[in-house]
Amino acid sequence: MSSRLNVKVGSVDLKSPVILASGTCNFGRELSEYYDLSVLGGLSSKGLTIKPRAGNEGCRVAECDSGMLNSVGLQNPGVDYFIEHELDYMRSLNTGVIVNVAGHSFDDYCGMVRKLDPFKEKIDVLEINLSCPNVKEGCMSIGSSPEQVKKIVSALRDLTTLPLWIKLTPNVSDITAPALAAQEGGADAIVLINTLLGMRINIKTRRPVVQNNTGGYSGPAVKPVAIRMVSECSRVLDIPIVGCGGIETAEDVVEFMIAGASAVEVGTASLIHPDAGLRITEGLERYCEDNKIENISSLTGTLELW
Ligand code: SIN
Repeated sequence: MSSRLNVKVGSVDLKSPVILASGTCNFGRELSEYYDLSVLGGLSSKGLTIKPRAGNEGCRVAECDSGMLNSVGLQNPGVDYFIEHELDYMRSLNTGVIVNVAGHSFDDYCGMVRKLDPFKEKIDVLEINLSCPNVKEGCMSIGSSPEQVKKIVSALRDLTTLPLWIKLTPNVSDITAPALAAQEGGADAIVLINTLLGMRINIKTRRPVVQNNTGGYSGPAVKPVAIRMVSECSRVLDIPIVGCGGIETAEDVVEFMIAGASAVEVGTASLIHPDAGLRITEGLERYCEDNKIENISSLTGTLELW
């Protein structure tokens, strides 16, 4: 890949703006069978918690028009297993290592950062998950309260010098409030958006399709919501934004960057086409060539509102 795709998210240098989103690439092992992941800007790990989690019971995914609903419930092997068995593998992929940190309480998040900080030579970014909608405590319930966002980000800021990217929930009436709170707490970047809370019903049983009743909606249908939120936040924030939500093509990435994103995360698309990250990266190369763009980051924040 050429240097035309090199971007910076605050102090973090990435080969490309294309990152694989948490929960859609695990730790990279499965997708590395489809293409060389080193073409990517980075990989965000499955959301990790202090203790291993089996995730939610019963049916956890449902197909929807233009997307999908998931209620995985943060199934993961726990942070200790990750450090021992997966971190070196992620590092060996020769791409940005982004560790997605989830938790049920203030103490959980602090405990996670204390455990990960000693391995900072192997980690590029801690992505703080204040947005998973599928667990009863922590995550989205913290991320929808600007006061709690500021409190938790400030506490984590004191525990590590690693870049902190805060992944926010779109399930709020004003996305700029938690985004500004994260910035005030010392965040290095904001990741927008995680999934939209949704429900599907089996009309025969009259029960929700996913056993947790609700799930997070992702895929191309959420893209306009995500772009609107990136655009709103880019007008008020001083820190960079990583855009996420329904990205399937290079043109989608361009749209997010014009709206104000410095980089993007691709999620559901990899579940449809495992090589989506590669296709999008190659498409961006062609876009730059066709439009004589020397560096893709020149697009960031070039939106002109009516
Ligand atoms: C899940 O594991 O339920 C999804 C994770 C997330 O939305 O962050």
